Amino acid sequence: MAQQIPITPQISNWKLFFEILGRQVSIRRSLWWLFLLLFVYVVLVVSEPYFYKLFVDTLQSSIGKPELFQQTSVFFMQISALWIVLVLLSIGTFTLYDFAINTLVNTDWKAFSLAASRKMMCLPMDYHVSTNIGERQKIYDRGIDTIWNVAYTVYVEVLPQILIFILLLIFGFYINPLMMLISLFVMPIGVVISMTVGKRAHMLQKNVSDLWDKIFGRFGDGLTNLGIIRLYAREKHESEIVGNMIDYTSDKQFQIRKLWCFLNAGGKLLEFIWKVGVTIAWVFFILHGRMTLGDLFFFVTLAGRIYSPLQTLENSYRNIIKFLADFSKVRNLLEMSDEPNSGSKIFTALEKSLTYNHLTFSYPSNDREVLRDISFEIKKGQKVAFVGHTGSGKTTLTQLLTRFYEPISGSIEIDGVDIREFTLESYRSRLAAVFQDTTLFNDTIRHNLEYVRDGVTFEQIREACRQANILEFIEGLEKGFDTEVGERWLKLSGGEKQRLAIARAIIADPEILILDEATSALDAKTERLIQDAFNTLMEGRTSIIIAHRLSTIRHADRIFLFEKGEMIGSGSHDELYASSPVYREMVDYQKNGFVEEKENTMSLAET
Ligand SMILES: Nc1ncnc2c1ncn2[C@@H]1O[C@H](COP(=O)(O)OP(=O)(O)OP(=O)(O)O)[C@@H](O)[C@H]1O
Ligand SMILES: [Mg+2]
Repeated sequence: MAQQIPITPQISNWKLFFEILGRQVSIRRSLWWLFLLLFVYVVLVVSEPYFYKLFVDTLQSSIGKPELFQQTSVFFMQISALWIVLVLLSIGTFTLYDFAINTLVNTDWKAFSLAASRKMMCLPMDYHVSTNIGERQKIYDRGIDTIWNVAYTVYVEVLPQILIFILLLIFGFYINPLMMLISLFVMPIGVVISMTVGKRAHMLQKNVSDLWDKIFGRFGDGLTNLGIIRLYAREKHESEIVGNMIDYTSDKQFQIRKLWCFLNAGGKLLEFIWKVGVTIAWVFFILHGRMTLGDLFFFVTLAGRIYSPLQTLENSYRNIIKFLADFSKVRNLLEMSDEPNSGSKIFTALEKSLTYNHLTFSYPSNDREVLRDISFEIKKGQKVAFVGHTGSGKTTLTQLLTRFYEPISGSIEIDGVDIREFTLESYRSRLAAVFQDTTLFNDTIRHNLEYVRDGVTFEQIREACRQANILEFIEGLEKGFDTEVGERWLKLSGGEKQRLAIARAIIADPEILILDEATSALDAKTERLIQDAFNTLMEGRTSIIIAHRLSTIRHADRIFLFEKGEMIGSGSHDELYASSPVYREMVDYQKNGFVEEKENTMSLAET
C-alpha cells in the first residue's frame, strides 16, 4: 500500500513532449484556423526576400538608362506598396496567432496548476510526511511553469520557424537548386552535433534538477527549524551544509553550461565555414553569369533566414530539454493516487459503537509493525483514554481513525460499517481533534477559527472561545479576532495556541473527538480553568483522550493500555490499577505528581 515517491522518471522525452502539446489539442479540438493563420503568416514572411530580388534586378536593369526612369519609379512604388501591405499583414496575422495561442496555453496552464495544487492537497499523508516542504513547493512551482514554457515555446517559436524553414527550402530550391544545395552544406553537421550534445545535456539536467530540489528541501527545512538553528548556534553549520550542496550542484550545472558553450563555439565555426563556402560559390556564379545580383540578394536573405530559424530551434531545444525534466516530476505526482476515498456512504452519526477489529498496521515508509492485532470497542458517548509509554502506538491509533493511513489488516468500524465505506468528506466533517502539535494558518485568529465550519457565526466563535477560556485573551489584543497569528504561530504561546485549537474543535461540533495530549501545553491552573470547556465539548460525543499526565484521564469510562503496539489491558482506572502491573507502575511513578491532585483532574465521569 505504500506509494513509491517518484524521483527520477523513466519516461521518454518525446512522450513527455507530445503529452504537453496534446493537452492543448484536447482543450480546443479545432485548431485548424490557428494553423491556417500561421500558414498565412509564414507564406508572407517567406515571400519577403523575393521583393529584394525584384528591387535589385529592376535597379540593375535601369542603371545608365534615363529613359526608363519614370517606368522604374512607378514599378518601385508599386512594389513598395505591396511590400508594406505584406509586412503589415504578416505582423497582423502573427499577432492574432500569438494572442490565440496565449489564450489557449493560459487556459491549459490554469487547469494544470489547479490540478497540481488539488493533487498536492489530496496526496496520501505518507508522501507529505516523507518530503520536505521546500522540495514539494519547488516541484510544484517549476512543474506548472513547464506548461507555459514548453507549449508557448513550441507554438510561438518552434512551429513558425520550422514552417518558415521548410517553405524557404522549397522556395530556394525552386529558384536555384544548385545554389540552395551549396547554402545548406553545413546544416546536417550542425544538426547531428546539436542532437548529440542535447541528449547528454538532458541526462545531466535531470540529475541537476533533482539536486536543486534537494537544496530547496533542505533550505525549507532550515527555515522551518530556524529556532533550533539559532538556539544551538548552528547557523554556520547549516549554511555550510546548504553551501556545500549549492557548490556541488552549481558545478554540475556549470558542466551543462560548458557543454552549451562548446556547442556555441562549434556553431560559430560552422557558420564561418559556411560563409566562406557560399561566398566563393556566389562569386563564381556571378562571374560566370549564372546568377543576377538580384539572385545574390535573394539568397543572402534566404540563407540568413534559414539559419536564424535553426538558431531559434537550437535555443528552444535547449530550453525544452530543461523544462521536460521539471515537467516529468510534477507529472509523476499527478500520476500518484490520492489518499484512498472510494467509500460512498454518508456518515452522519455514531449510533451504537466504534470498534477496532484485529487491526494491524505499519507505516508505509517502514515495515515495522507499529500496531499488532488490536481489538476493542468504544460505545456511543463514552469517554475513553489511550494510555501507554511513549511510542506505544496511541497517536497512530487515532491517525487510523482519522483515515490519514489505512490498516494493513483488520478494520475500524462504526456501527458495523468499515469507516473506509464512508466518503472521506462526510466522515471527517464529523471528527475533530486537538493534537500534540497544534498548527495554525498564518492568518487572523478569526480565520483560523471559522475555517473548520462553513457558515459559523461570529457569536458562535466567541462562545467557543469563551468555553476554551481564550476569549479574554483574544479580546485583550489590540486587533482582537483580527490579530494575525504569524508565520508558524510564533506570536502565540504554546498554551494560547492549544486553547485556540480547543476552541476550533468546539466550533467543529464533532461526533467523534480526539484529544491527543490536548492539555500538555497548559499549566495546571489553566488546565483546571478549561476543564468545564472540555466537559461541555465532550458531552454527548464519543471521545478519545490521550494524556501522559494520568490525572487527566483517571475518570475516563474506560482506559485502554498499550505497550509496544499491543493492547495489554483495559478497564476503569481502579480495575487497571488492580490488574495491570504496567499501569500500576505508571501511576505510582506519578504518585507525588498529578494523580494526587484530585481537585485538578478533569471530571470525565461526571459528564
Ligand atoms: N510517520 C511515521 N512513519 C514511520 N514511523 C512512525 C511514524 N509516526 C510514528 N512512527 C512510529 O510509530 C510508533 C508509534 O508512534 P506513536 O506516535 O503512535 O506513539 P505514541 O504512543 O503516540 O507516543 P507518544 O506518547 O510519545 O506520543 C513509534 O515507534 C514511532 O516511531
Ligand atoms: Mg502520541
